[in-house]
Amino acid sequence: MAKATFYFPKNFRWGTTTAAHQVEGGNTYNDWWRWEQEGHIKDGSSSEVACDWWQNAEVDLDRMAAMGQNAHRLSVEWSRIEPHEGQWEGAAIDRYRDLLTGLHDRGIEPMVTLHHFSTPQWFTDQGGWENADLALSRFPRYVEKVVGALGDLVDLWCTFNEPNNYVLMGWLWGQWPPGCSDFGLAMRVMHTLLKCHAAAYHLIHELSPTARVGLASHFVVFDPADPDSWLDRQAAGWQDTMFNQATLSALSRGRLPLRTRRLFIRGVKDSFDWIGMNYYYRRRVAFDSRRSNALFGRMVVPEGAEEPIEGMGEVYAKGIVRLAKRLSTLGRPIYVTENGVHDLTDARRPRFLLTHLHQMWRAIQFNLPIRGYYHRTLVDSFEWDYGYSLRFGLIKMDPRTGQRTTQRSGELYADVCRANALDDEIMARYDPELADQIFQG
Ligand code: BGC
Repeated sequence: MAKATFYFPKNFRWGTTTAAHQVEGGNTYNDWWRWEQEGHIKDGSSSEVACDWWQNAEVDLDRMAAMGQNAHRLSVEWSRIEPHEGQWEGAAIDRYRDLLTGLHDRGIEPMVTLHHFSTPQWFTDQGGWENADLALSRFPRYVEKVVGALGDLVDLWCTFNEPNNYVLMGWLWGQWPPGCSDFGLAMRVMHTLLKCHAAAYHLIHELSPTARVGLASHFVVFDPADPDSWLDRQAAGWQDTMFNQATLSALSRGRLPLRTRRLFIRGVKDSFDWIGMNYYYRRRVAFDSRRSNALFGRMVVPEGAEEPIEGMGEVYAKGIVRLAKRLSTLGRPIYVTENGVHDLTDARRPRFLLTHLHQMWRAIQFNLPIRGYYHRTLVDSFEWDYGYSLRFGLIKMDPRTGQRTTQRSGELYADVCRANALDDEIMARYDPELADQIFQG
């Protein structure tokens, strides 16, 4: 009998999260495939097979169910549904219907993302998100098609995954397609994405009045490197405003947080029924007058801090509570739509999981409205520009053979999902030192 138990609320959603391009394989119609052909994947690997979900996702759906998960976040791939402009691929819709039915049959509630970083080549060839007129006519048309065809199987829709990170990587840092570095263009694309989000939100409600629609944003905790330095505090604040606050300000006030009229976005205010928090790390920021392209901020990693990926910040579980508190002011339910860590050997993932779940439990004790947690991710998958050099899976996968092996962190997550709780026995089994710290100190 466990001595101390942190219970999660009844009906709490426990799941994992994926994106079509990262798991499906066999798709040559999107911009990421082209990006890969141009040699931009750091380890030279290919998304050609990925986790082979297009052929056989069912083996992994069985694993989710066996692990006690009751929720899963996946995305549908626009370029499969509309591989050529205006030509709809019925077989792709049927495959998604099979996948969604397969989830329901296993007692797993789907959350479906409509855009997760990849777009059809025909769309990018005409300017893609940089062409606002094109985007505002073609994206809603795709949404209408998808919701019309799959709406009876989906209650939870996520319009876009991380518009902020997508714009940063594609239009400012140039590491993702289309590989640009232009602040003005980046702002215009952000504006267009949010308009498309709003259009999708209203359209989905027309088609499926009871559906709940939101978006998932990437959140980073930005703290000043030296809390006593006014300049460091300003630099951390600027990064926070541009990265975290832009989406929040659009959703709650209808405008991007800059003093320009053009940045008012019609229809976006209040266009969300829930908010998704993708959370991985914090960054401490020092003022640096030479770094105008990073809003005069330079990241500093304190000695001894654990870096999730070199150069990306530091692991910081308490960020979940701080961000949930901030998001709760929006007055909508919160889902942790992504959280996880790259770990080749699964040596540190159990502790990452335990500390983040414990902080999430604390947030819920403060009445912060977190309704579900989608771990990133079930099976090692194709990590965008990193290819297979990053491993986020609770289940290890050999990309050459597709062979899967459940990690200790996978067993740990299954224990939590089945119990709908975190207790001292689970903690002691996977991390006795942490259990002592939490239960005795
Ligand atoms: C993306 C995921 C990705 C993860 C880790 C997030 O920004 O939404 O698709 O797997 O980062 O790289």
